[in-house]
Amino acid sequence: MASLDSIRQSVRGSDADVGGDDSGIIPAEAGVEDVCDEEVDTVRSRVAPHAGDEGGIIPSLQAVQDEYGYLPRFALQVIADECDTTIARVYGTASFYSQFYFEPRGEHTIKVCTGTACHVKGADDISENLQDELDVDTDEVTDDGQFTIEHVRCVGACGLAPVVVVDDNVHGPIEPGNGTEILDEYTDEEA
Ligand code: FES
Repeated sequence: MASLDSIRQSVRGSDADVGGDDSGIIPAEAGVEDVCDEEVDTVRSRVAPHAGDEGGIIPSLQAVQDEYGYLPRFALQVIADECDTTIARVYGTASFYSQFYFEPRGEHTIKVCTGTACHVKGADDISENLQDELDVDTDEVTDDGQFTIEHVRCVGACGLAPVVVVDDNVHGPIEPGNGTEILDEYTDEEA
């Protein structure tokens, strides 16, 4: 099991200079001074269409998260510079939306719906089942970097309750106790 605080995101193989650590891993909290110019240029290129536009913060955040899977701190600084605003403003905007993450995520996000209909039909058992199988708690990343489990409110598919959403795919109804069966197709595609 790996806590989000300890997980480090591998971004560009051995090219990244991470504050004296040559492992090629960029900590979520690394600032601009901790990463190589190449990484800064990568973020700049993703933000370029919105440069000089404070209204470009959200699309810039989306572009950076598409690139890294989360929002490393150095990228927030670059977005602030490019959009002529402050890092506090960028951080505040990102914090407002649940779609943005400040820590690395697994390749696949497993959302266990804990809304009323799903709760009544065994969502807790499904979540425990998945956590045991993957050896992680919610909002952590599996050691192989493949999965993160989240609890979410009603995803609007109550007729299929209990529901689990993996990436953008809705699975349901899930038999409590058989929740791990859905992992196969996501595990196999990585093989
Ligand atoms: S409560 Fe789970 S889909 Fe509505």
